[in-house]
Amino acid sequence: MWIQVGAVLTSYLVGSLSFAVIVSRLMGLSDPRSYGSKNPGATNVLRSGSKKAAILTLLLDALKGWLPVAAVLTFGQPYGLGAGAAALAGLAAFLGHLYPVFFGFKGGKGVATAVGVLVGVNGLLALATVGTFAIVVFFSRYVSLASMVAAVFAPVFYLFGDGAAWNAVGAEVLCLSVMALLLVWRHRENINRLLAGTESKLGAKKA
Ligand code: G3P
Repeated sequence: MWIQVGAVLTSYLVGSLSFAVIVSRLMGLSDPRSYGSKNPGATNVLRSGSKKAAILTLLLDALKGWLPVAAVLTFGQPYGLGAGAAALAGLAAFLGHLYPVFFGFKGGKGVATAVGVLVGVNGLLALATVGTFAIVVFFSRYVSLASMVAAVFAPVFYLFGDGAAWNAVGAEVLCLSVMALLLVWRHRENINRLLAGTESKLGAKKA
């Protein structure tokens, strides 16, 4: 029990490292919370004009989602921690990104971190979800729309991918569903902009 609590708390703290802000600061760029969508995430960092900073943000935000899941799966078994506990650790890291204790609980929308969690949970699941994202972004050029569609499909893919053991995937599906719901909730301003036709497309610079 205490090991599980420790894993969740540590994962939350790791998730609380807002790499969009950290990377921008280290590279001498403006704070991403001050321009564009004001979101501390890779898409908004890209609007600064620095592809390098955006890619670094994307990788590090994904890494902090993958790491807790992989750590629990690798080292948790002797302590009774399995796939469900790993998914919970991933959810905790995701929550850290959305509500970071180190940044006044004002975080990002969780897309890159969610990808990292999915990679840790199941590589094929991550591939299917990122593939969905790529298709939507290719046709629409909207990262936000593609992120929401892909996130909603992730728990569905997981269920179908593990169809033979539906009763054994409860915790994972629950964690992925909560992540999808929160991710859509965090995109509510994007949804309004999409409906109003004012959402910026991939490649647009900061304003
Ligand atoms: O990375 C989050 C993405 O889905 C949307 O980002 O900056 O366009 O609100 P942004």
